Amino acid sequence: MAKWFNAALVISTVAFASCNQTQTETSAAGTSKKDWGEVDGKQVYLYTLTNKAGDVVTISNYGGIVTSWASPDKSGNKSSIIIGFDSLSTYLQQPPYFGALIGRYGNRIGKAEFKLGDSVYHLAANNGPNSLHGGLKGFDKVVWDATVADSTQSSLTLKYVSKDGEEGYPGNLDVTVVYTLTDDNGLKIEYTATTDKATPVNLTNHTYFNLTGSVANTILDHSIQIDADKYTPVDPTLIPSGELKDVKGTPFDFTTAKKIGQDIASVPGEPVGYDHNFVLNKKDASLQKVATLTDSVSGRQLEVYTTEPGLQFYTGNFLDGKFTNHDGNPLLIHTALCMETQHFPDSPNQPGFPSTILQPGQTYHTVTEYKLSVK
Ligand code: GLA
Repeated sequence: MAKWFNAALVISTVAFASCNQTQTETSAAGTSKKDWGEVDGKQVYLYTLTNKAGDVVTISNYGGIVTSWASPDKSGNKSSIIIGFDSLSTYLQQPPYFGALIGRYGNRIGKAEFKLGDSVYHLAANNGPNSLHGGLKGFDKVVWDATVADSTQSSLTLKYVSKDGEEGYPGNLDVTVVYTLTDDNGLKIEYTATTDKATPVNLTNHTYFNLTGSVANTILDHSIQIDADKYTPVDPTLIPSGELKDVKGTPFDFTTAKKIGQDIASVPGEPVGYDHNFVLNKKDASLQKVATLTDSVSGRQLEVYTTEPGLQFYTGNFLDGKFTNHDGNPLLIHTALCMETQHFPDSPNQPGFPSTILQPGQTYHTVTEYKLSVK
């Protein structure tokens, strides 16, 4: 165990202009862990990943939740650009998926059922008539087996076996997720899965970002560019009609960078805001840049790279002040946003969408990277 706390010391130098002095800050690049509680009789840990640049990301093996990402703004002030809590007990109060891994099926499955082969599979209707984010106890609420192959590297491997029939889905699904904090401030998430029966699989991460580092500010002044000429319009329960609609001339046009607040009031639906899947322009499953989020006040910029065909852009429309962020401020509507890389919602019931069915013998493999910089 002691090995965990003996991560090799790498010196990173941060120069402070104040007091005419140059101070040297020492941080341990690598991965360490601490006990964080217990769920379902299993030990839960909080892992700290530190890179050579001094960025620090904390991740729990409960739900694979990314709880914080501390990084400097343009003035060198460090704060977390993602929302979260310091204690496990708050996550057990079932916040809306803050930072969590989502599966077996990220996003919605219409009427909480799908047909595969000759069988109809029934899921929990946990979001109106639909099934959302894997059901009542999705991958965000289970304890994952965690390993750190090398404590001098900032990387964490999580494994979970979702049993045949769990939450109504067919097949034993063997899932591995590798989180890596790269030295150039990328949070890379690599998902792999295999099954012994055909099953839908759509894995994502539900981190909420606020690049200002404080949810005292909304995200309405952030700018976002999304490389998508089309999006999937939805019914009032957020199930796509099946149409791929042009963003041109609509509030969904982010093909060039635009402030999130600019057209948000014209987005149809209640509560106000974006909660839509964008059809990324990329033509294949290679890792490509698909979105850029910027905040001019902090100078922070976040680029999203993915192998996936879709991006659920969600502006925290359901945040209602019930939870308090680790900066002490309430999480109110539009104080944070998600960019969930994924296949399209309701794909198992939508023959026109790219398939999400994983067959035995195939390997599900997707990669997403959130790359942070400061200007
Ligand atoms: C996803 C959904 C939203 C909402 C959030 C959690 O982003 O698309 O509608 O359910 O999760 O609140």
